[in-house]
Amino acid sequence: MAAGLMEILGSDRCYHFFDSFSGLPEARVIDGEAALLWQANKSGPTYFENCTASEDEFRKTIAFVGKTSHACTIHRGLFNDTVPKSETGALALLRVDGDWYDSTMTCLEGLLPRVAIGGVVIIDDYGTWDGCTRAVHDYLAVHKRAESIERYGRSAVPYLRIRGT
Ligand SMILES: C[S@@+](CC[C@H](N)C(=O)[O-])C[C@H]1O[C@@H](n2cnc3c(N)ncnc32)[C@H](O)[C@@H]1O
Repeated sequence: MAAGLMEILGSDRCYHFFDSFSGLPEARVIDGEAALLWQANKSGPTYFENCTASEDEFRKTIAFVGKTSHACTIHRGLFNDTVPKSETGALALLRVDGDWYDSTMTCLEGLLPRVAIGGVVIIDDYGTWDGCTRAVHDYLAVHKRAESIERYGRSAVPYLRIRGT
């Protein structure tokens, strides 16, 4: 996904990537029964070692597609630790792909306010995992935001566009 974003958006932007590089935290009840069952089934076909990709794998992929000259900052660690203290400047695009309630909420709380008016927030797991869906609804409600969830393209990618008021 990182390589694809860099390919499409080009080299005249700064990129910030946040990941523990050690897989998903433990799902909680708020994440829904499907999430709990998925994480409990360690031999399931979509388990992929609890969605783990190493930083080395990430760097090799970026190098493989020739994007090493892009300005890119890697924020390694749990979102709780990295997101609040990160310095990104204004964001044109925020893509949230942390699956669970807490992970999604931490990213929304810390990063959505940095998205410029007219900017886009893609929420990969909205409508897939209950926890992510709930976090989006809770965030929008608590902050009294009027953005609606839109869908884009053949795969109906969920996103919202930041409004001025
Ligand atoms: C479904 S994978 C998506 C990975 C990547 N965005 C992609 O499209 O290939 C979810 C990723 O979120 C990371 N993640 C989830 N919750 C996290 C948290 N609280 N702190 C740090 N990383 C987290 C996991 O390590 C995992 O790499």
